[in-house]
Amino acid sequence: MAKSKLTGPVKTAIAGLGRAGWGIHARILKTRQDFQLVAVIDPEAERRAEAERDFPGCKGYADWKRFLDDPNGAELVVIATASIAHVPMSIDALKKGFHVMTEKPMATNLKDADKVLKVAKKAKGLFTVHQNHREDADLHHLLSIFDSGLLGRVFYIRMFSAGFRRRNDWQTLRKFGGGTLNNTCPHNIDECLQLLQSPVVDVWGDLQQAVSAGDTEDHVQVMMRGKNGRVIEIVVTSACAIPQPHWLVLGTKGTLISEGKEFYIKHLDPAKPLPKLKVNAALAVPGRKYGVVGGEELSFLEKRVPAAPPEMAKNLYSELYRSIREGKKAWITPESVREQIRVIAAARKGTKFKG
Ligand SMILES: NC(=O)c1ccc[n+]([C@@H]2O[C@H](COP(=O)([O-])OP(=O)(O)OC[C@H]3O[C@@H](n4cnc5c(N)ncnc54)[C@H](O)[C@@H]3O)[C@@H](O)[C@H]2O)c1
Repeated sequence: MAKSKLTGPVKTAIAGLGRAGWGIHARILKTRQDFQLVAVIDPEAERRAEAERDFPGCKGYADWKRFLDDPNGAELVVIATASIAHVPMSIDALKKGFHVMTEKPMATNLKDADKVLKVAKKAKGLFTVHQNHREDADLHHLLSIFDSGLLGRVFYIRMFSAGFRRRNDWQTLRKFGGGTLNNTCPHNIDECLQLLQSPVVDVWGDLQQAVSAGDTEDHVQVMMRGKNGRVIEIVVTSACAIPQPHWLVLGTKGTLISEGKEFYIKHLDPAKPLPKLKVNAALAVPGRKYGVVGGEELSFLEKRVPAAPPEMAKNLYSELYRSIREGKKAWITPESVREQIRVIAAARKGTKFKG
């Protein structure tokens, strides 16, 4: 994107003043000098009035089209409406020349993702997606541990996101783009795509409706295999009453597991290669001692470190400001998010839950 001729705070509109629009975006904008909330769009009069009261100069609109025609100076539109509306609203706003940041999911199927990407390619404004878990310190900490070689070759990762939480709101209905795969998994899959560190070559999914209402899945298991051989298993479930470690990582030199706010790592000395093992093919194993014939002592080192050191966290709105005002490439490119939508579509294959 070219460097902006405009200066000062990025004049921003939020469409949809629910949990995300009000609870995440408006709350963040309140703390920032480099963004200014100038417009909100929501059919709920009370929600508009609250925004007008809390943000001086902010104008409320009940109607999306009226906002598009007369946006009170807005340059950036944050789309935080029901998931099914993200693509049509992103396209409307991009065609009018706005910068657009849509909430996840960018689209509820691959065809729609390609539709909005096509418009975004020709658009004057920037198009990005609020994949806020890419900010997370634990993600960047894991990547730095992988790169350090401490665990050897990382070949298996399990991400478990669990609770026993039933739902019966619009997020349980397919007609609004609901279901765990569209709602929660865009975060989990997106993070795991970063952790795969390689293109995806294989995807398998199992979707079930366990405890929630509606016609969508509330239990998801996705397995992805990278070209590098690494396998990531993602379980996001609404039906697990016993807490599980969020991360488990297996490497050829060590293991990492989340324990609350810490990573517990048990590893061998990364500087010392393991002695080469020669196969002993005798069918009567000497002394009936299995494992390494003749025995082997491995000295493990152990450490506990904070899982999410604050200094490792990124800041999505700061990156967005740099893209809009300084012409930096979008930090979260829609192409990278398309890959997440492709994985989601592949995980649905063979299940009864269609996107
Ligand atoms: N990134 C995150 O961490 C995160 C968290 C929560 C939700 N989300 C996403 O944000 C989106 C909204 O979810 P939510 O939980 O905030 O929903 P919500 O039901 O709390 O809020 C939706 C809001 O949109 C308004 N609305 C309905 N039709 C509209 C229209 N035509 N124009 C403008 N506003 C309209 C509603 O009145 C309501 O205020 C979903 O797609 C969800 O996936 C993201």
